[in-house]
Amino acid sequence: MREYLAGFGNHFSTEAIAGALPLGRNSPQKVPFGLYAEQLSGTAFTAPRSENRRSWLYRMRPAASHGAFSPYGKNARFHAGPYAAPATPNRLRWDPLKPADGQVDFLDSLVTIAGNGDVGSGSGIAIHLFAASRDMVRRAFFSSDGEMLIVPASGRLEIRTELGVIDIEPQQIAVIPRGVRFSVSLPDGSATGYVCENHGALLRLPDLGPIGANGLANPRDFETPVAAFEDLDEPFEIVQKFCGQLWTTTLGHSPFDVVAWHGNLAPCRYDLRLYNSINTVSYDHPDPSIFTVLTSPSDTPGTANVDFVIFPPRWMVGEDTFRPPWFHRNVMSEFMGLIHGAYDAKAGGFLPGGASLHNCMNGHGPDKASYDKAIAADLKPQKIENTMAFMFESRFIIRPTAHALDLPECQSDYDEAWSGFTKAELPR
Ligand SMILES: [Fe+2]
Repeated sequence: MREYLAGFGNHFSTEAIAGALPLGRNSPQKVPFGLYAEQLSGTAFTAPRSENRRSWLYRMRPAASHGAFSPYGKNARFHAGPYAAPATPNRLRWDPLKPADGQVDFLDSLVTIAGNGDVGSGSGIAIHLFAASRDMVRRAFFSSDGEMLIVPASGRLEIRTELGVIDIEPQQIAVIPRGVRFSVSLPDGSATGYVCENHGALLRLPDLGPIGANGLANPRDFETPVAAFEDLDEPFEIVQKFCGQLWTTTLGHSPFDVVAWHGNLAPCRYDLRLYNSINTVSYDHPDPSIFTVLTSPSDTPGTANVDFVIFPPRWMVGEDTFRPPWFHRNVMSEFMGLIHGAYDAKAGGFLPGGASLHNCMNGHGPDKASYDKAIAADLKPQKIENTMAFMFESRFIIRPTAHALDLPECQSDYDEAWSGFTKAELPR
């Protein structure tokens, strides 16, 4: 069992070798064992204390020790735009992607499906899918474009990062900070899932307001790995995503040589099954924001760069209530995925590993079969089980890539989900 440190954004201190962590100084004249001190800044130096995120890393060689990066030249489907033009208002849905032919690792399997904002000026997100079938061997990736929220849909991931090793399985997530080098191994031999690359403000727990001090995702359930390093003097490829493009260089050693670190900017994992769902106990279906796990705020209060929202197993007890998600048109744009089981607003067509996109102001909601079932239901308390859907919801229109629109998995008949609704019968 690997060891983790509990809490979200806490100031952690961890050392893989006793005595490696300097005491009383961040950058002493001489770091123990001749390690190099390096600050990793996830926010501006001058960000308010409540927002400021940074860690000090003590490593065997400076991260700066590398040659020039050159264009990677592979996997051109992993980028940050340009997205398809014109942006389509149409509702879109994809079946789960078929794995790429042959053996492909996590990095080379990443396919950008959609995105928004502007990577160069720090707004918006990019949404990627992965379907990997081999380990990343002697190579690591980092994104200078944003933190990576990784949501596996099948297969476990072992994510070795500079700050320690994270294990996740479907229904768990990992957040890898911008710039942190990581490498993904596949204990099950293959894995699929989703990634939200956040170009905007760092993901954080939402405020709870009148809910009180507890509820939703509890900070103690976020787990950050303890320091772990590998002392390996062999060629190691480093690929970075920078302003939407991939670049590569080679080190003569493993980049995972951080022996100790302290600070509040670090990778973490979270088990979505621990989510403390708040829901109605009287009537009406609350807005899905009630299920927000993490949020990246924008400069407009309450209007997120991206919210990560889940639809977990939960009791439904609302009286005189249409219990599934209602019909709606939303100023925010919604990208959904399904990690496990079935989703209560769709009778079919939305499969684990699949995805849907409902953009700004375009109507959506339950399909006819789900609607008919909901209005006929005997409204006893009922537990929705065997489900875990999620949504990346953004203030910016989510623009699919040309590649995503051309995929055979992109359903041509999605609008049919809302066919067959009969006209309301008014009194004569
Ligand atoms: Fe919606």
